[in-house]
Amino acid sequence: MKVTIIGGGGRVGSNAAFALQCAGIVQEIQILDANTDLAEGEALDLLHGAASLGGQRIYAGGYDRAKDSDVFVITAGLRRKPDESRLDLINRNVALFQNILQSMQQGGYAATAQVFVVSNPVDILTEMAVRELNLPWQQVYGLGTMLDTARFRSLIAQELSLDASQVSALILGEHGDSMIPAWSSATVNGLPLAGMKEVTPAFQQKLFERTKGSGAEVIRRKGGAGWAVGATIAETIHAVALDRKSLLPVSSQQHGCYGLRDISISVPTVMGRKGVLDHVEVKLWPKEVQGLQASGRALRESLNQVL
Ligand SMILES: NC(=O)c1ccc[n+]([C@@H]2O[C@H](COP(=O)([O-])OP(=O)(O)OC[C@H]3O[C@@H](n4cnc5c(N)ncnc54)[C@H](O)[C@@H]3O)[C@@H](O)[C@H]2O)c1
Repeated sequence: MKVTIIGGGGRVGSNAAFALQCAGIVQEIQILDANTDLAEGEALDLLHGAASLGGQRIYAGGYDRAKDSDVFVITAGLRRKPDESRLDLINRNVALFQNILQSMQQGGYAATAQVFVVSNPVDILTEMAVRELNLPWQQVYGLGTMLDTARFRSLIAQELSLDASQVSALILGEHGDSMIPAWSSATVNGLPLAGMKEVTPAFQQKLFERTKGSGAEVIRRKGGAGWAVGATIAETIHAVALDRKSLLPVSSQQHGCYGLRDISISVPTVMGRKGVLDHVEVKLWPKEVQGLQASGRALRESLNQVL
């Protein structure tokens, strides 16, 4: 499988490339960036590690060379300022994103290609990509709340001194202020977290607030997220490459799940070789469903301002 990372010279794109390289599952990684020197430099640096990490093909190149990609990951974009909401980024990033979609169309891509949006505001840009590219909606998806979910699981595990890989807990909805925690389905090794004595309403509130504030905290401390977002990008691509049928909170266009339609947002989604295979309407607490629907309304309002 070939993956092209548009914006691969930046922090998120290069960290994702490294996560893909370490896993050794995809065979070919192309770094594409408006800053061609940076793209060449990152590709070269990654290539130097091939002797230790495996013999994937890693190189920099433009849209013409990218046309045989199986997955285009779009990480190009402007970062949030510490006090800026993701939706405030809309106007700054929409024009840039439209240029990228046009360049992809000019460069060409296969009818089976998949487009994986990471740039923010990710749900809005994913929906734009679904509407503007002549690809089935199942082949266009966004990172959605994958990173928020990873943060949530890792922070819960840290707080309870548990193995993070055994903690399952989803964040659903918008990758942004209206995201919601699905405590109803949170488990550790299959046992309900809500049944643990430590998991009080105050604990739940504290962990969710920490998760929600994590993006701004990382921006304040180191300029922007990189390693964890790279890991979740790779997790999604590996679900596709290996046809894993993993249930992931990626963002994709909705067709009725939880009453959501015609917006891209995160619900439990089965991911495999053809991209989005299914949306799964698992039973949530009524207040969680209401939160998810409110998140959908907030996104629709933003989308209406842009489209
Ligand atoms: N969805 C998520 O969970 C998530 C998490 C973290 C960051 N992000 C988003 O990812 C994006 C990138 O963040 P970053 O920290 O890597 O920023 P960065 O500034 O480090 O990198 C952005 C890269 O995009 C390149 N670029 C800009 N315009 C381009 C264009 N038209 N074509 C090709 N390349 C172009 C730049 O040269 C730069 O190398 C931002 O929008 C950020 O908000 C999303």
